[in-house]
Amino acid sequence: MAGKPRVFVARHIPEAGLRPILDALDARVWEQPGPPPRDELLAAIAGCDGVLTMLTDRVDDEFLDVAGRQLRVVSQMAVGYDNIDVEACSRRGIPVGNTPGVLTDTTADLTFALILAAARRLPEGERFVHSGEWTTWSPTAQLGVDVHGSTLGIIGFGRIGQAVARRALGFGMSVLYASPERAARAVETALNATWLPFDEVLAKSDIVSLHVDLNDTTRGLIDADALRLMKPGAILVNTTRGPVVDSGALYEALRDGVIRAAALDVTDPEPIPSDDPLLTLENCLIVPNIGSATEATRGRMASMAAANLLAGVRGLPLPNVVNPEVYESA
Ligand code: DGY
Repeated sequence: MAGKPRVFVARHIPEAGLRPILDALDARVWEQPGPPPRDELLAAIAGCDGVLTMLTDRVDDEFLDVAGRQLRVVSQMAVGYDNIDVEACSRRGIPVGNTPGVLTDTTADLTFALILAAARRLPEGERFVHSGEWTTWSPTAQLGVDVHGSTLGIIGFGRIGQAVARRALGFGMSVLYASPERAARAVETALNATWLPFDEVLAKSDIVSLHVDLNDTTRGLIDADALRLMKPGAILVNTTRGPVVDSGALYEALRDGVIRAAALDVTDPEPIPSDDPLLTLENCLIVPNIGSATEATRGRMASMAAANLLAGVRGLPLPNVVNPEVYESA
């Protein structure tokens, strides 16, 4: 390879990741605030040795064809990678990197912020104050529900689901969880968590929090039937991926009082269109996919993504690879 490896970084990323890339590689960085439009993305990656992607960039056969046979790594600055056709990358022997672990607690913190905000109706309260409607203390207005002592149902009991359960201990909550595999007994004991079938977790929980990956089995997992299984007073929290919830069904359930409230960090599609009916509901709190958005965590994610990119263009194993099979066939 003559000269420095060429890479495209699909967004301006924190300095902790950007600096090592700029120092070592021939890098072009997409400096605009939004993601590169598809045609500009494809134009930018043609001939690159490595690409650093975000969850907003689709990586598929077309992407890989346009990039060219010299492409040695796709490094995603996120733990999730449902925007990437990993099989297509593996078929071509291209390792895909991600950033697991560093955003677990930050995402669990945001999950708890959403639980508390929805249960105690914080956005409504804030709007009330800002609009000048707060004229007196009222014994009956702005009543929410208690989080302490309630039952939390966690759907998907991986790193983030377990970190949410750990926080629930401090609130004296009972934790139920649904996942294909039962967690180790020691984990269940430490987190005071009970493994139950999906339907039972929905039916018994006051708050249901989603922590599954997006894949063919979880797309639309929370549909009208699932929502009907939940308690009428229940709150749904989604900090994983928007398409895990059927947005139309959620709108109807919130409008008709099938469940009490929802708090969403993710929507389908993203960003949510300004005329989406969910935005008309008082009982639906939505924030713009900020689960991992703290200065420290985004810095760590950028640094891990840079390490994966640098290793990949140098032909070294990625520190965090999602398709290790590419090394077996090499
Ligand atoms: C991830 O890493 O998958 C998150 O959704 C981004 O914060």
